[in-house]
Amino acid sequence: MRNELPAPASTATDTVVAGLADAGLAVVPDFLPSGDVTALRDEALRREAAGELAPAGVGRGAARAARADLRGDRILWLDEDEPAVAERPFWRAIAALSTALNRELMLGLWSFEGHYALYPPGAGYARHRDAFRDRFIEDRTRVVSCILYLNLAWRANDGGALRIHVDGARPRDVLPAGGTLVAFLSDRFEHEVLPARRPRLALTGWFRRRT
Ligand code: OGA
Ligand code: MN
Repeated sequence: MRNELPAPASTATDTVVAGLADAGLAVVPDFLPSGDVTALRDEALRREAAGELAPAGVGRGAARAARADLRGDRILWLDEDEPAVAERPFWRAIAALSTALNRELMLGLWSFEGHYALYPPGAGYARHRDAFRDRFIEDRTRVVSCILYLNLAWRANDGGALRIHVDGARPRDVLPAGGTLVAFLSDRFEHEVLPARRPRLALTGWFRRRT
């Protein structure tokens, strides 16, 4: 009789923690159940149809401006205090992740800010970093970047990869397939969004330290 126990299932949260600890980067398919992903997608599309998404800006403070040549997405910030029903599983997962990251990696995460992002066909986001180690205090508060993709049946020839530039290695391309979560240390990797042939939808956010 076989009596060995199966290996304990590694949860999506464990996978993110292990990836960040080992490589500063984690890519986790099926971070949320597909029904939750579809509900988030429907919510984002409903709010786009209601005119709630607006062109994203680049730059800081007074220099902040829409620059479609650098960044072509339309965004809507999430309201953590009054989440839509469709957003509740996402916030629960983020809370669990925050607890695990603080416990295992002592990152001192304090809050999360996130937005829907919709890239029309042909739009991208030029190579950039989400935080800088030695610049303004406000930059140092972005610690972990997280992107949850909300696209159904994405194929490689739809384009739209997130290209992550890894020091001393070939860049890593991640397709924005629905349910996939990418998490990385915000000051570690330059990255860019390649143009897609279809509208490209994501929920993008950052764990922050207290300022
Ligand atoms: C960003 C970003 C990546 C993506 O919004 O800062 O890099 O794959 N997004 O949408
Ligand atoms: Mn980015």
